[in-house]
Amino acid sequence: MCGIIGIVSQGYVSSKEIIKALKRLEYRGYDSVGYALNDGTIEKDTGQIAVFLEKMEDKKFKTGIAHTRWATHGGVSKENAHPHPDCSGNLIIVHNGIIKNYLDIKDTLLKKGHVFKSETDSEIIAHYFEEKLKNKDMKQAIVDFMKETKGTFAVLMIKKGENEIYAFKRDSPLALGIGSKEFYLSSDIYGFSDKTSKAIFFDDDEFAIIGEEYKFYDKEGNPIEKEVKEFEWGFFEEEKEAYEHYMIKEIKEEGKTVRRIINSLNNEQHKKILELNEMITNAKKVCFIASGTSYFASLLGVYFLNRVNVESQAIIASEFKHFIKIDENTLIVAISQSGETMDVLKALKFAKKKKAKIASIVNVPYSSVQRISDLSLEILAGQEICVAATKTFINQISLLLYLANLNGLNVNLDTLHERIQETIENNEKKVEALAQTLYKKRDIYVLGRGFTYPIAREIALKLKEIPYIHAEGMMGGELKHGTLALIEEGTPVISLIAYSDDEMISNTKEVEARGARVVTISNDEKIDPDFYLRTSKDEKFAITATIIGQLLAYYIAREKELPIDKPRNLAKSVTVE
Ligand code: M6R
Repeated sequence: MCGIIGIVSQGYVSSKEIIKALKRLEYRGYDSVGYALNDGTIEKDTGQIAVFLEKMEDKKFKTGIAHTRWATHGGVSKENAHPHPDCSGNLIIVHNGIIKNYLDIKDTLLKKGHVFKSETDSEIIAHYFEEKLKNKDMKQAIVDFMKETKGTFAVLMIKKGENEIYAFKRDSPLALGIGSKEFYLSSDIYGFSDKTSKAIFFDDDEFAIIGEEYKFYDKEGNPIEKEVKEFEWGFFEEEKEAYEHYMIKEIKEEGKTVRRIINSLNNEQHKKILELNEMITNAKKVCFIASGTSYFASLLGVYFLNRVNVESQAIIASEFKHFIKIDENTLIVAISQSGETMDVLKALKFAKKKKAKIASIVNVPYSSVQRISDLSLEILAGQEICVAATKTFINQISLLLYLANLNGLNVNLDTLHERIQETIENNEKKVEALAQTLYKKRDIYVLGRGFTYPIAREIALKLKEIPYIHAEGMMGGELKHGTLALIEEGTPVISLIAYSDDEMISNTKEVEARGARVVTISNDEKIDPDFYLRTSKDEKFAITATIIGQLLAYYIAREKELPIDKPRNLAKSVTVE
């Protein structure tokens, strides 16, 4: 994961500016932060970017690089924080990705007398170049690096005294933003979208040298022309406003964002959703791939399409190639908020090799997933800052419902935003009170059946991720096959009971009989649920029930005084395998 930023400017810039730009990438990792300038300055520390920004000295610079880390190789420490210099302090790098053969390279470098200060794989990059540059020029050294290293990388490198950044990438994302007097390098367009709307996206095994102008090269070092894209990213909602956390702000935006996606599918994205539908109709096999929350959205997609006799399947991206046979008649539909999830990208590259067609549903425009797709739709949820996916999940499901409607499902999506607002307004206080009774619990079980099964999984994921409660989201019918043994007096069980779902009522009784403390969420008033969510349509209940789960995860975590927007060990964009 990790976020990297580089700035090459014609005039002097304050060093605080590079850290402010980096802050926009903090969602990619927040274990440590650091920057380096071409006068040889390196400042780094563990902890939050905001604290670092407050304490840092204000220096003027023309060329600098910065890094926010999500630790992989080596613990969270100042030594392991980026940037990393070579032995002489002449070359300084930041890196996002994992160099898989770093131990072999390190071994060779150690034998040549290099001294390493960190436990990271990244540090070898600076030393590798220090060694190479003894008898090669920079271009040739980068070509060699691309040939000799295994793994993933987006690297920015500066040389003391030079006003240039050397940038190269494979699998990890990297974009060049083109300003009027500055160039910006960033893991994604968030890093510079407040400065420019023009960007060039690096493809794999390309590199660039950025100084007064920029030049791109292929992996052999041949110059290449790259297209400058004008991007529009009009939904910046990153200010927390009056809210205590982004998570609650983003949950409360759900009505608004659902209206936006439905409106767009009726208008500017209408042609695209029809195209997606046609691709589905023409394919012999349709498979959704996704990770985490987006996978649960995919499962719902399969359910909705199944309701209208369209067959599809959903596979977790990291397991994709083990569970499917694909060819040119297969359509892969990738669902990814960030569009940068490495597991999804790897699966897509695998599918592409097998000549499958690729469609995607993403939130971030120009993301890697979007760029690899034959067709891509955007869910228009706006930037989601909290690590937990909330509003983006709701918009993913809304888009999938729209798709099912095109095939004959009859869900009125024009009133969906009203149901969402009503759910939040009528239940927030009640959820908060419930959270106060649950926050000391170690385990929570969430039961669903049919379309509420993916929702049970999603609610359980939220409970793990934000309040750190061990939660299991499972099929009500599976309880009796083993898990029932874990239910004892007072075990919390959340039961999602759709209208007239008698089987789910029986499963709920089964846990109640064993002493479980059951919380029922239903759109069936006659069963007198703890949370009654008014809607005659099950598909809308899928959405409103999720929102109760999101609020519950939020309020339990708040009661426990946890870092809600940045839970431990996680990052928003998961760019490692
Ligand atoms: O960006 P993506 O939708 O591809 O991300 C997939 C998962 O990493 C993501 O949904 C993760 O599970 C969320 N943090 C859950 O809230």
